Formats: sequence, C-alpha cells, structure tokens
Amino acid sequence: MTGEPRSDRLSRRDLLAWIWRASGALALGTGGFIGLRFLSSRSDAGEAAVVVNAGQVDDFAPGTLTLFEHGRFYLLRADDGGFLALSSHCPHLGCTVLWNADEERFHCPCHGSRFTRVGDVLSPPAPRPLLCLPILIDESGQVQVDTATRIERASVAATDFTYAPGTAPASNS
Ligand code: FES
Repeated sequence: MTGEPRSDRLSRRDLLAWIWRASGALALGTGGFIGLRFLSSRSDAGEAAVVVNAGQVDDFAPGTLTLFEHGRFYLLRADDGGFLALSSHCPHLGCTVLWNADEERFHCPCHGSRFTRVGDVLSPPAPRPLLCLPILIDESGQVQVDTATRIERASVAATDFTYAPGTAPASNS
C-alpha cells in the first residue's frame, strides 16, 4: 500500500515538472515571437519593395506637400505641376525628418539638420539632400512611387521632377 501514495506523489511531481517546463517553453516561445515580430517590422520598414499608388495627378494641387506615412516619403507637387517624392529618412543617420509648415522646411529632430521643400540641405550635419524615390505617372494620370528604390543626389536638379505625360516644361523634356 505504500506504493500508491508514492505513485501519487510522483505523479504530482511529474505534473508540476511538466507545468514548469510547459510554462518555460511558453515564455520562450512568446519571447521569440515578439522578437521575430520586432525584427520583421524593422525589416518591413527599411527594405519593403513596394510600389505605392499615391493617387491621381489631380488629387494633388500644385504647391502642396503630402506625407505618405506608410511609405515613409513626402510627395511634393511643385507649382509647375511636377512631382517629387522625398524619402523621410535623414541622409545623416536615418532619423525621420518632419515638415515644419510654418518655416517651410524639413527638420531632423536627431541632430538638427534642415532641408528645403525640395530636400536640399540648409544646415548640416546631413551630408547631402534628402533621397528621392522614382515616380511613374501613367497615361491615366495614376501617380506611382517606388519606395524600394532611393536615389542619392549630390544636389537638387530640375530633372529630379516627374511630370504627367505631355505636361513637362520644355526645359525638362
Ligand atoms: S539623423 Fe538627421 S541630422 Fe543626424
């Protein structure tokens, strides 16, 4: 009769050990899942190969700037109708630049770089203008921005702008 209680004790001990191992595995699994989600979201943010359908040409009035938060870019429509997509990553160390409408310039909150409306550097330490993203405007007037490609510029040029078919100024065509 001494065997049964012992067997019970062993069963309880086994059960407690099993619960202990299971909760450890659950904690490890949860931690791993959270870690993977974190790495995955960082990867999505930095490397996603996505073409963003920004809208129709007429959705953007000349002289306006539109933030595409998900694509991490600003879409500028210049007064002459040209489009320019600017990466919101600072070319210094990659912080997100913010548009200051009052001052009409981009500010980097990390080390104080400032940029003009077209992304030119006003104050360092940023070593070069904001990166551009390629824009395609099809015959129907759909504006598409390739967020997977970033174009480094030594300076800002008129050729950085993209125009709807048949609307480019003579100096750009
Ligand atoms: S990351 Fe923008 S100024 Fe340093």
